[in-house]
Amino acid sequence: MAARVVLSPSTCFPLTPAALRENTSIAARGLSCFPRRLSPASRRTAQSGRGALAAATMSSTVLVTGSGGRTGQIVYRKLKERAEQFVGRGLVRTEESKEKIGGADDVFVGDIRDAAALAPACQGIDALIILTSAVPKMKPGFDPSKGGRPEFFFEDGQFPEQVDWIGQKNQIDAAAAAGVKHIVLVGSMGGTDPNHPLNSIGNGNILVWKRKAEQYLADSGIPYTIIRAGGLQDTAGGVRELLVSRDDELLKTETRTIARADVAEVCVQALQIEEAKFKALDLASKPEGAGAPTSDFKSLFSQVTASF
Ligand SMILES: NC(=O)c1ccc[n+]([C@@H]2O[C@H](COP(=O)([O-])OP(=O)(O)OC[C@H]3O[C@@H](n4cnc5c(N)ncnc54)[C@H](OP(=O)(O)O)[C@@H]3O)[C@@H](O)[C@H]2O)c1
Repeated sequence: MAARVVLSPSTCFPLTPAALRENTSIAARGLSCFPRRLSPASRRTAQSGRGALAAATMSSTVLVTGSGGRTGQIVYRKLKERAEQFVGRGLVRTEESKEKIGGADDVFVGDIRDAAALAPACQGIDALIILTSAVPKMKPGFDPSKGGRPEFFFEDGQFPEQVDWIGQKNQIDAAAAAGVKHIVLVGSMGGTDPNHPLNSIGNGNILVWKRKAEQYLADSGIPYTIIRAGGLQDTAGGVRELLVSRDDELLKTETRTIARADVAEVCVQALQIEEAKFKALDLASKPEGAGAPTSDFKSLFSQVTASF
């Protein structure tokens, strides 16, 4: 069976056997930080609390797509933890992913390639956070112990053109039709270089299609924040100094990775900070222990000067 492999733009970006082992085992574990299902009591509390708080404080209804994914899960959980500010919703591709993040009624199941499937999830939302992505699979038969390079492919219909372009365009259109006030889109550094190695994976041109969707969002007129992350790591968030930049400048430095948890926090903070709107930023972090952990996100977004 083909293994699910994580794109790794952290190093420009060789998919080493060690990275593959780690990535495939992380994917297999699912990294779920959720109970399999919320207890009926928690669900009642969440629902009644949500209604009361929504009325009292005008909390913002936020849909996170790809909420069964590794960064999407963290965003969904953060929204739920901040129930005084947000009414969180998720969109996942399968019932299995829905169960993985707790199976709550506010998690919609739908395929982003199917425009019609997105309307129910988008109805009444104030903001959308896009965390979907095509994911390449490793061709079977690769033995890391023998060295060499694995080969990758995208399944039929799951190429970046369909998922990262059409699927993201569908989401932007559905959110626009719902009158959304802000869209946060997570993409990847590397998109300024058409010859970036990530584009050759599975002949997918993944960064090209992601960038096309980013452009579509920037041209939409809807307030947006495009976050182009460096290599994603499953390490603790909130313990590193974050770095913002533009035009893939960070790829020329040693600081080109970031914790998924930090990306998730930046997504949620973007919804609350005016300075984040109509901005595109490359995002990475200093190593832990170098610099002071970022806590002032208004100041972080204020450093961003690029609109694309
Ligand atoms: N990996 C890296 O180092 C890296 C670096 C920079 C940026 N990024 C980008 O950062 C973002 C988050 O990455 P991640 O690793 O956290 O994501 P991930 O775990 O790969 O999650 C991607 C999600 O997209 C969903 N998805 C794919 N096709 C879909 C479809 N047709 N309909 C609905 N949902 C669909 C997947 O659903 P299923 O769970 O059902 O498969 C999955 O939950 C992605 O855009 C990624 O490209 C990654």
